[in-house]
Amino acid sequence: MDSVLIICGTNRPDARTRIVAKYVEDYISDKYNMKVDYFDLQDLPDDIARSSMYKGDDMPEDLKNFQDEVLIPSKHIILVSPEYNGGLAGILKLFIDAISVRKLGPSFHFKKMLLIGVADGRAGNLRGMEHLTGILNHMKVVLYPTKLPLSSINSLLNEDKTQLSDESAKKAIHSVVDGFVDWSN
Ligand SMILES: Cc1cc2nc3c(=O)[nH]c(=O)nc-3n(C[C@H](O)[C@H](O)[C@H](O)COP(=O)(O)O)c2cc1C
Repeated sequence: MDSVLIICGTNRPDARTRIVAKYVEDYISDKYNMKVDYFDLQDLPDDIARSSMYKGDDMPEDLKNFQDEVLIPSKHIILVSPEYNGGLAGILKLFIDAISVRKLGPSFHFKKMLLIGVADGRAGNLRGMEHLTGILNHMKVVLYPTKLPLSSINSLLNEDKTQLSDESAKKAIHSVVDGFVDWSN
């Protein structure tokens, strides 16, 4: 494995998911000698939800560039996804659908992926990750068998809620990321 793409699966300002995704990015950059790309659904164009999105060629230019230059060449992906209303964020499903109507195979088929869930409640987005598993299996993504649910996320952050501070949460992230890297090699 010589590169990985990390995706922050929400566009919510102040998302705790972003803090976790950035932590994963820093951990991999510090420990492994590999190219690390990062994509945040916050950077999706505001007009992504339009009926013409189903014509793949009409995809906004920035998203097209991301798909062609970053997503398609990436063979390994870590998706960090928040729990909204007991499932994945709507914007994440919209992103997956928008990408899939243009170049489904080269974007998703047989890519290796790790899922990490983030929730303020106790479920750690387990249900959202189960739903994602069904969706991604359908899209021929090969999922790492272990999924990491991070529950009560606000209690795992520092006082000003800008960084992950809980040592056991950090260890759990290191362990699942290291396992994913080993499995992918
Ligand atoms: C629309 C919405 C719905 C949410 N629903 C849930 C939920 O069902 N269960 C839960 O534990 N937390 C829920 N939360 C809280 C998020 O899990 C919490 O904000 C967490 O930090 C992950 O989301 P974030 O990355 O946007 O911060 C919800 C948050 C939003 C914005």
